[in-house]
Amino acid sequence: MNHLIIKKFPNSCLRKKAEKVKKISYAEKELLSEMAKIMYLNEGVGLAATQVGINFQLVVIDIGQGLIKLINPEIISREGKQTSEEGCLSVPGTVVKVKRAEKVNLNFLDENGNASRLRTEGLLARVVQHEMDHLSGKLIIDYLNPIKKLLIKRKKS
Ligand code: NI
Repeated sequence: MNHLIIKKFPNSCLRKKAEKVKKISYAEKELLSEMAKIMYLNEGVGLAATQVGINFQLVVIDIGQGLIKLINPEIISREGKQTSEEGCLSVPGTVVKVKRAEKVNLNFLDENGNASRLRTEGLLARVVQHEMDHLSGKLIIDYLNPIKKLLIKRKKS
């Protein structure tokens, strides 16, 4: 596999809605491990496939408690609220305060295709929601007011 490159805002691939993975083959497994590699290399805590220009619902996360690989993640419940500053490997140098649910439960497939469930809270819940935003083409700057967003866009393009 060619080395993956993290796409940066305003690259249009970051705005694409990722498709569901229909069949998990060697290619998807390989992609997940390459994504993990590049996430660690860049000292990120999560990476979505859309960030490397691949339009499928694949996510890797590691907040220091071990690597989690998510295929077709789907949030089934949300509870509570948390607000904290977030950065993003695709929007380097920018930190945005984002309000998220404190706890989320999700369904996903593991890399062997097993239907799985994950309960998350705090930072892990935050990262899950951040990465799932990527899968629907949403970025942290979308949480800013329009003027701040415009200033960042000007600076980056
Ligand atoms: Ni991000």
